[in-house]
Amino acid sequence: ETVEYAAESYDLGGHDTYMHKEISEQADAVDRALRGRIDDRFSTVHLGGLNLDAREARTIRRVKILGCGTSYHAGQIGAQMIEELARIPSDAEPASEFRYRDPVVDPDTLYVAVSQSGETYDVLAAVQELKRKGARVLGLVNVVGSAIARETDGGIYVHAGPEVCVVSTKCFTNMVVSFALLALHLGRIRDLSVADGKRIIEGLRKLPGQIDEILKGEEEIKKLSAAYADAKSMMFIGRVRGYPVAREASLKLKEVSYIHAEAYPASELKHGPLALIEPAMPTVAIVPDDDLLEKNRAALEEIKARSGRILAVAHQDQEKADDTIIVPKNEPELDPILMGIPLQLLAYHTALALGRDIDKPRNLAKSVTVE
Ligand code: G6P
Repeated sequence: ETVEYAAESYDLGGHDTYMHKEISEQADAVDRALRGRIDDRFSTVHLGGLNLDAREARTIRRVKILGCGTSYHAGQIGAQMIEELARIPSDAEPASEFRYRDPVVDPDTLYVAVSQSGETYDVLAAVQELKRKGARVLGLVNVVGSAIARETDGGIYVHAGPEVCVVSTKCFTNMVVSFALLALHLGRIRDLSVADGKRIIEGLRKLPGQIDEILKGEEEIKKLSAAYADAKSMMFIGRVRGYPVAREASLKLKEVSYIHAEAYPASELKHGPLALIEPAMPTVAIVPDDDLLEKNRAALEEIKARSGRILAVAHQDQEKADDTIIVPKNEPELDPILMGIPLQLLAYHTALALGRDIDKPRNLAKSVTVE
């Protein structure tokens, strides 16, 4: 599996920053991640480089995903997808933490190392330690032929194309899409029905068009960014599928705009962070139309009752929110892929309004190849 990118892919292509260019490229990037992989006959996907046959796949009792930064957040969404679609207990952990806590390495666990560069030292070191102990390790990597891609037993290339901006956008989206493919693949080997397989495939096919639809709302998001750019600090909340989306959106905002942000499960607000809520501390809430809609609405009410400003990312207008960005609906399991995209634009336009060095935020590097 080799994908060559022409020199033009590294040009700004008329954009002012790589971050903007890369956000704009996401429909194509997702299309590339899907290309040639969907198998309508069996309502599943083919993942040529996985090196995991059906019999082996059936013996997996846990999935442990390891990554750093944005890739770790993609892994958190991925773990939920695998648990939902393949019904295998799954979780994600920062590779650096995993490596230093002397983990029990279990032969029935499938380990997945997720990395844009494929060179992040903490992830690579975790892979090497796992391999030394005889574990099964897959890579979910963007850069073809990178160290992590070479040292894993097999894996999935996410095919986001070259990502130049230090903060990751299109690669994050493609990682989550790749996890959806892995979840569907494992699910269809196990107990996911043909009907559910079809439903997810239809959802996947809708993604590029829906991404373009979200990106068309950029002017609106730009205006909202200007309205929130004076915040000293922002809260990001979500529940279950929305929580890792909130975490990634919070990371994106702080990396690129330097506004302090933190993410909480909406259900945990009452256990502490509600004390911070006041007009100067806006909240961004992820509110999908899923079975937690009413619970999320209750959280918005709690915030409103403390005079907090709310920006909701939702499938329908939220009465309690001051502003709502409407995102098109997909299948509930795939909604996290779309809900993060307007928040990349929010981070981008906030940073632009504040005059930040968007492609090279202070103190950060694209890949951290040392400890
Ligand atoms: C650095 C970058 C982050 C990235 C992380 C993991 O900290 O600034 O944007 O998410 O490394 O990088 P990787 O290449 O392993 O995905």
